[in-house]
Amino acid sequence: MRLAIIADIHGNLPALEAVMAELERRQPDVVIVDGDLINAVPFSGGVVDTIRAQDWLVVRGNHEFYYLNFGTERDVSGSKDADRWGQLHWLVEHLTPEQGRYLAALPDDLSLFFSNTRPLRVAHGVPGHNRRGFVPEQPDEEIVVTLRERVEDDLLITAHTHVQFDRQVRSPASRTKYDTNPHSYHDARANEARRWRIINPGSVGLPLNGDVRAQFVLLDSVSPDAEFGGWRATHVRVPYDRRPALRAYETSGMLAAGGVMSTLFYWELVTAEREIPYFFRWARKHDANPKETAMREAFAAYVAATGRDQYVRQRDPLFNGGEMNVPSPHYG
Ligand SMILES: [Fe+2]
Ligand SMILES: [Fe+2]
Repeated sequence: MRLAIIADIHGNLPALEAVMAELERRQPDVVIVDGDLINAVPFSGGVVDTIRAQDWLVVRGNHEFYYLNFGTERDVSGSKDADRWGQLHWLVEHLTPEQGRYLAALPDDLSLFFSNTRPLRVAHGVPGHNRRGFVPEQPDEEIVVTLRERVEDDLLITAHTHVQFDRQVRSPASRTKYDTNPHSYHDARANEARRWRIINPGSVGLPLNGDVRAQFVLLDSVSPDAEFGGWRATHVRVPYDRRPALRAYETSGMLAAGGVMSTLFYWELVTAEREIPYFFRWARKHDANPKETAMREAFAAYVAATGRDQYVRQRDPLFNGGEMNVPSPHYG
């Protein structure tokens, strides 16, 4: 049995197509999409249509909810602000009602039971919380707190942080002397020593581990003696031409609508490094709170102070190939 798990495509159709060509070579029995199909790169509609046409298992991520919640009472505060959320406005205008209905009906997590292996739980973050992800440098103790609270299973497929890993964490038995639910198997288990394996396939469309290739993971069933849970994980990275995706920011009109946020996503696509959290952290620290002052002013100050535009521009394949020697809206 071979599973392929792909996640965080983020509207990057060229990256998805490169991964699909690789899947054709690797011939998985089951393909699972672990959320964040849409937003960030301008081909979200194409990605939804492509995925809908496959016989794949799909769960939602937080970006599906930015879309599904927009204009409802569940919406994030300030979502009408075009400076901050213009990219989402563009997305809402460009997905069709049919594509929206597809996203509306997806499940938020899955439990998979394949013979001779331990059950696999699949969620974009953790079950019940699609924005609680994990990063490789996080200490075990911190991860264990979340897993104890949220994950009954021993094997969790998680995505969201756009970083590949395959990690095992252990937790000693907890020492509470009170048994508040004596008849519950799960609560009894909550106090015993536990071991989990958590696997992140990385991101197809917007990796943030410094490697610009489209990334996913293959899980092959093996003897449980060979690998914890009976699954061998092989992380895969597929090179592809990013230039069509980079060009589309401008030609699709997303950049004009999304402004600073679209440029920040573009920069992340160029560098495969986090930019958005650093920008917001910098802005908060320097009293240029983008929620209170204009995003564009805060971003101009960030660029002037950090020189990040030059750093990104040096790595931009549209510039390096000599294709775009004219001033670009992405670089001041
Ligand atoms: Fe994501
Ligand atoms: Fe996410």
